[in-house]
Amino acid sequence: MKKSKIKIQWPNNKETYASEGDDWFSSAEKAGFEIPTGCLTGSCGACEIDVNGETVRACVSYIKSRKRSLLKVSLTTDPFWEN
Ligand code: FES
Repeated sequence: MKKSKIKIQWPNNKETYASEGDDWFSSAEKAGFEIPTGCLTGSCGACEIDVNGETVRACVSYIKSRKRSLLKVSLTTDPFWEN
């Protein structure tokens, strides 16, 4: 089993470490960041985040390491941050 730690940088500028296969929501929670959710089945898109520029639906994906071991997360849409 691979045990490499993946560094994640969140939109609130916090950084956390995760392992490959961890879920996005619990990692976000560790950073004090909340990923919006809706259907939790991969169809509504509410939980979409950008990971190194690539859109990911957090509810149906797991953290994967890339060539660069830093994953930079940003929000594709930010309805919760406008008010
Ligand atoms: S919560 Fe609907 S796609 Fe993830």
